[in-house]
Amino acid sequence: MPCNCCEITDSAFSEAEAKTELRNYRKRGPVNQTKLILKAIRSLNLRDAELLDIGGGIGVIHHELLEDVADRATHVDASSAYLKEAKAEAARRGHEGRVRFIHADFTEVASDLPKADVVTLDRVVCCYPDFHRLLKAAADHSRGALALTYPRETWYLRIGLRIVNFFQRLRRDPFRVFLHPVAEMDSLLKREGFERVSLRRLFVWEMALYKRTVL
Ligand SMILES: C[S@@+](CC[C@H](N)C(=O)[O-])C[C@H]1O[C@@H](n2cnc3c(N)ncnc32)[C@H](O)[C@@H]1O
Repeated sequence: MPCNCCEITDSAFSEAEAKTELRNYRKRGPVNQTKLILKAIRSLNLRDAELLDIGGGIGVIHHELLEDVADRATHVDASSAYLKEAKAEAARRGHEGRVRFIHADFTEVASDLPKADVVTLDRVVCCYPDFHRLLKAAADHSRGALALTYPRETWYLRIGLRIVNFFQRLRRDPFRVFLHPVAEMDSLLKREGFERVSLRRLFVWEMALYKRTVL
């Protein structure tokens, strides 16, 4: 379903980038921040779980978790190029019947989608201006766990992302990256009935795993 967010992300996440990411994934496996999410979800010892991957890109999280933790998955993404590569890889792995692919801004279609046991957002909140709306909708859809990665609130990333956005403005490209306040994201998820059970840091990315405590 075309939307303003999809138009913006379609140009930011192009076919060429999607193909390169898929090639790298096939060669080297998941990148480090995605490995943190996979490890965190696997630590919950779930089986036959239903996964909702928001902004899943080339689909690494479901390609991996459908091997052990998950039984089926929904992948919602605003980029048609990334979805195309994700679908091709799912078919190559024999997962095509187990993944539902939806081209949309998740916040716009969330009310039509069922809840899942596990919801993931790997490097997604930083692409979306309104983290309240995105995380609230994501939290509403998780019956059990929610894992996300986002850029750390450090001085070097504040400067780095300002530079990236400066060049985006110069190129007249409307896509921006966002360094959302971690404490506010954490408070929002706590208000939605979750507690943070794991926090891991890399140089750029932070991974947080939340478990639902209030139904
Ligand atoms: C930086 S990429 C990350 C892709 C993948 N999760 C990964 O870590 O490799 C961000 C992805 O989120 C998607 N995205 C951003 N905002 C979204 C939204 N509101 N709804 C659905 N997808 C969204 C983009 O289209 C893009 O595929």
